[in-house]
This record gives sequence, C-alpha cells and structure tokens, in this order.
Amino acid sequence: MPKRNKVTIVGAGNVGATTAHIIVSKGLADVVLVDIVEDMPQGKALDIMESTSIDGVDCTVTGSNNYKPISDSDIVVVTSGVSRKPGMDRAELLSINQTIVNSVCNEIKQNCPHAVVILVSNPLDAMCHVAYNTLNFESHRVIGMAGVLDTARYKTFVAMETGCSIKDVHGIVLGGHGDTMVPLPNHTSVGGIPLIELISQTRIDAIIERTAKGGAEIVTLLKTGSAYYAPAASITAMVESILKDQKRVLPCAALLNGEYGHTGLYLGVPCVLGKNGVDKIIEMSLSDKEKALLKHSADAVSTLVTQLGLS
Ligand code: LAC
Repeated sequence: MPKRNKVTIVGAGNVGATTAHIIVSKGLADVVLVDIVEDMPQGKALDIMESTSIDGVDCTVTGSNNYKPISDSDIVVVTSGVSRKPGMDRAELLSINQTIVNSVCNEIKQNCPHAVVILVSNPLDAMCHVAYNTLNFESHRVIGMAGVLDTARYKTFVAMETGCSIKDVHGIVLGGHGDTMVPLPNHTSVGGIPLIELISQTRIDAIIERTAKGGAEIVTLLKTGSAYYAPAASITAMVESILKDQKRVLPCAALLNGEYGHTGLYLGVPCVLGKNGVDKIIEMSLSDKEKALLKHSADAVSTLVTQLGLS
C-alpha cells in the first residue's frame, strides 16, 4: 500500500488549525497538530477529524502536546510564536519568537530529520535563519511562507481595482515579509494584458502601499491577533506543491546562494517547489528600480538577522 502523506503543524492557534483544516478538507495528508496548551490541539484535531465524514476524505488528525507523533512527517509547518498586536511591527517579535522557533526546531531535528520544514512565524525571513541554523538541514528543505501570502493580497487588490476575475490576475511580490516587500507591477497582468495598461500609476501605487501593509490592515481590524485564512491557504498551496511534486512557481523565502546578488540570506524569491522542497530559485530580470527596491528589502532583513546574533 502506498504510504499516506503526513504533515505536522506546530502551533495549533488560528493559523495552524486553519491550515490543518484546509489540508484535511482537500484530502492532502494525515495531519499532526502540536501545541503546548494542554488538551487544545487534541480538541481541534478531533473537531477537524469529525469534519472528514462530511467531506468524505480519508485523513486522520492527531493532536499532541509532545513531538512523538511527528516522526516520518513529509512536511513540518512551524506556526509557533507570538503574533502582532495593533500598532506593532513584525520585527518587535524577534527575540521572543527566536527562542520559541529555536526550541521547536530542536524537536523537529530530533524527531523528523528528513522533513521539509516550512516556517511561518514572524518576523518571517529572520525566523528562517533561526530554523536553518538550528536544524542544520540542506537549505532546500528549510523554506519560509510569506511571498505566497503577500502575492495573494496583491492579486486580490488588483482584481478588486480592475473589476476582473481573480483567476485572470497574475503577478508576484518579492523581498522580505515586511513593509519593504516588493510588488512588481511591470510583471503583473490581467488576462495577459499588462496591468500598467489597465490602471493609472496612482492606483498602482495605492495597491503597492496597501499590499505592503496588508498584514497590519488585518491586525488593526481584528484587534486580537493577525490574519489566518489567507496565510493558511498560502501554506496549503506550498504543502500541496511539495506533496504532489507539482513544481509550482511560488514566491517563498529561500536561502540565496548568489541569486539576486546575495549569499547566505533568506529572501522572498520565485521558487519551483517539488518533493524535495525548493527545486530551483528562478532569477527574474529586474529593472534598476526594482533591483534597488529589492536591495532595500534585503538590507532590512539583514539588519534583523544581525540582531539574532547567530554564528
Ligand atoms: C501577515 C502576518 C501573518 O502578514 O505576517 O498577516
């Protein structure tokens, strides 16, 4: 019998639990939900498991307060950590989430040494460095989820602005997961028509600004936490591409080795995602202005990485 796919999600808060639900409702994998809060991951796991009888999918969901059930997972998603409160910048979470991600990754290293690990905790690009440092896995197996989410927000705003179907909007956001992220209007199209032919530069600028602050917009509205539906859908797209070896081209935080002029830095770039994680980083040709914006974003990530004090 072929082995069933197995995905562990560490952190059973809103992002983790919603991701578990989407993965299971699509029938992609058995899921293990791990959280330190007693009984909570077990409760959410049972609730999601009970939904499988409606969806007609053969997936199991297991909740746990320890890491024993995670062995042999194909993918481990790390959502653990503190999320932003209104008015906070993701960077303010650096030190507390460094401690949490470090301890989670020590467990993953011991219990699941062959998994592909997807980081979600913020500040995202810096947390990828923490994970990579602790796990000591090949860099293609340590990936950050941010670009898919930032691009999803960008494409949504483009669809809203143009009044065209979201299905026909194509585009990409590069760079770090912060205010310096780099949406690329010159590489955005609607049904094959360049965006710059469809709406004014002023409207494009407004969409870029709203995209860069997209996470904060949701935090301000929710008041008690950050976004989770679009983040969970974004994680699931990455998980599905890896499990099914789809080779989708998705923007992810990946460790650069000379690409885009950087070495040893995690940054959001277009990646081909397959069964081993990042199959390939695609280098787009960028204008001088786009290169300068990406450098500015890389500098912001580097500043945080320096603060981590990793060797
Ligand atoms: C956001 C958080 C998850 O962008 O970083 O919504």
